[in-house]
Amino acid sequence: MPQPHATPFSGNAAWIQAPWAGDPRTSPPVPLFRKAFSLSAGVSSAALTVAVRGLVRVEINGRRLGEDEFVPGWSDYRRRIFYMEYDASGLLAAGDNVLGFILGDGWYCGHIANRERQFYGDRPSIRAELRVSGADGCRMTVATDKSWQVAEGPWLASDIIMGETFDARRDRTGWSQPGSGGAGWSAAEPAPESPAELTPYIGEPVQAQEILPGRVVDVPENGGRGTLIDFGQNLTGRVRLRLSGERGACVTLRHGEVLDETGGLYTDNLRSARATDQYTCKGGGDETYEPLFTFHGFRYAEVSGVPPEAVEGAEAVVLHSGFRRTGWFSCSHPLLNQLAENIRWGLKGNFLDVPTDCPQRDERLGWTGDAQVFAPTAAFFYDVQRFFQRWLLNLRDAQEAVGGSVPPCVPDCRCFGLPEDGGPGWADAALIVPWAMYRHYGDPLFLADAWPSMVRYMEYLAANKVKGFIRSHPDKDSWGGFGDWLAPAADNAVGGTTPKDLIGTAFYANNARILADTAAVLGDDTARARWEALHGEIVRAFRRRFVRGDGTYSGETQTACVLALQFDLLEECMRAGVFETLVRDVRSRDNHLGTGFVGTPFLLHVLERFGALDLAYTLLEQESCPSWLFPVIHGATTVWERWNGWTPEDGFADKGMNSFNHYAYGTVGDWLVSTVAGLAPAAPGYAALRFKPRPGGSLTAAEARLLTPHGEASIAWQVEGDSLSIELEVPPGVPAVLDLAPPWTCAEATALRAGRQTLRATRED
Ligand code: BGC
Repeated sequence: MPQPHATPFSGNAAWIQAPWAGDPRTSPPVPLFRKAFSLSAGVSSAALTVAVRGLVRVEINGRRLGEDEFVPGWSDYRRRIFYMEYDASGLLAAGDNVLGFILGDGWYCGHIANRERQFYGDRPSIRAELRVSGADGCRMTVATDKSWQVAEGPWLASDIIMGETFDARRDRTGWSQPGSGGAGWSAAEPAPESPAELTPYIGEPVQAQEILPGRVVDVPENGGRGTLIDFGQNLTGRVRLRLSGERGACVTLRHGEVLDETGGLYTDNLRSARATDQYTCKGGGDETYEPLFTFHGFRYAEVSGVPPEAVEGAEAVVLHSGFRRTGWFSCSHPLLNQLAENIRWGLKGNFLDVPTDCPQRDERLGWTGDAQVFAPTAAFFYDVQRFFQRWLLNLRDAQEAVGGSVPPCVPDCRCFGLPEDGGPGWADAALIVPWAMYRHYGDPLFLADAWPSMVRYMEYLAANKVKGFIRSHPDKDSWGGFGDWLAPAADNAVGGTTPKDLIGTAFYANNARILADTAAVLGDDTARARWEALHGEIVRAFRRRFVRGDGTYSGETQTACVLALQFDLLEECMRAGVFETLVRDVRSRDNHLGTGFVGTPFLLHVLERFGALDLAYTLLEQESCPSWLFPVIHGATTVWERWNGWTPEDGFADKGMNSFNHYAYGTVGDWLVSTVAGLAPAAPGYAALRFKPRPGGSLTAAEARLLTPHGEASIAWQVEGDSLSIELEVPPGVPAVLDLAPPWTCAEATALRAGRQTLRATRED
């Protein structure tokens, strides 16, 4: 018999909602809820628990509680709702008090990607309980029920994808203070019960993280459309305007990542996302507006409806989940430093409660493939363990809902007519992300928690997608997956030309490897033997299928070569030949990469591992398209979705899919840190360290610093003529080695001591 879920509520709190809802296309006004109550004495403690289907901002006695945004985040609200616990004692007082909630549609009933509204339900609702202990020993509970009042506020519409409409003339000043209420307020309605499991929010909620000043840009050609403001950085968040206008003046704010040929805002790539906020002035003096339940991906905003002077002082409020910074990288190459910054901004812009592909167009989904390729890089720059722990819970919910496969996006929202299974490189996030988290943070709980989902997915594959150990076998899987997504291809095919069954089988083998290694960590020898055996079978099948009769490998694309080498799928005697094919292909493209989402993360690792460090640096420093530095040269401040998002010859790439803030290709951050600077774990969680600097290209210096679970580790190297000086910091109790490659040799160093030390290596040609 199913067990009832544990509840954080003491019993009386009920789900409540407004009596109005929008429809699949129209957003309704945002409801305000209030409840007045009185306390006989001052407060010794007060805890507020809120569970929401939608988004909430809490106000008590006219003041905002906490600083969290987009509470309680995005989950499959039919299965799981994250709830929040707040200490409310600071805002309460003896006598009259008011507890108030503003509820936004958010992901619950607003637009998700290009879907119509109301995917999970038709209107937002809340269940909440405030437990107060008075200084006089009395206890009181204020819980949501039908005694609450509800009214429309100044937000006429609020939607993540479309933006917000706010009429300041309808402002209910003081609505969450004692003495307000009355006219315009009616009784809240009971909302349907929820079967979902209530889970305490895991990790750090979204908050405003930084404020960037705007600069008014003069665009004479802007056709009178408004004042253009440049925030200097492609970011995710919203604009805070200080303005003064006549009562009833309507101010419109549009957002864009880049400018078009005329110098005006380019918005074609937002597709159906209106990303437009509208504000109607109250008049009579200075006003401040910042939207509440929406975010946009933008560098530029265009403000119309008031003269330019009226919006001087506009600021961008940068929003993302509140994890702390843990990693730093820099080197002697300014463009690579900008690339590292772009990677970090890509992370900030796309880690807003869930890891998304992009923050601007009508998508913003938790694409599993993007998340898995980027997870190791993300874990270096920020402490994302709890962020991913929460997302993996979402992933397991999604998997549960579709009977064992792993959908392409998590939370799963059935957008774009997508299949139930994300396919190779995407669905495999169920195994790859927990393993990446374990590697970085060293906590086996990541693996123990993930184990049933990992096994279930492999069993799903065996039953549905695999024939003769070949995954995405045409007889079993007519779709085959997304392929090597957005690899440069002559015909611009989005999935590249690497055969899908090759990618599928390579990732299937990698999954079996991860399972065998996970079983070893968890101490399950039987499971380990099972997955080792499967791994062997898959590798043999891979060879049977992709090695020709004459002993040559049939995979000819860069990605085909890279996967075979990275995942050790070929016999040793074949590796040199396959590596040669890879190098030849790079050379034949005039030293350019030819990889998409699937091959790119491993390309430089493979080139370095098999002896072509110079070529890896040539690709890293390549400035013409396709390359990592091409967007940087052209002023990018985030990583682009497509290698050719914009080119001088062709202008913008296909507006149907052309984000300028997609972190997937930022996966090269992992190579910058582990190989350019040379800071890499030699054991899970950096319990042992391998300093592996590989000076090369035009670089004369590089450094990386990481707050590991064991303390701070860092490396900084500098080449001076034939000498290489290396400054290292080794956390206490962590065994560490220095691993140099020719031409560098260092007489002193193999095992390193804890603490700071400087070593010198010399060039031996
Ligand atoms: C997204 C990607 C995603 C892809 C699936 C796109 O629309 O933006 O980043 O991984 O679809 O292949």
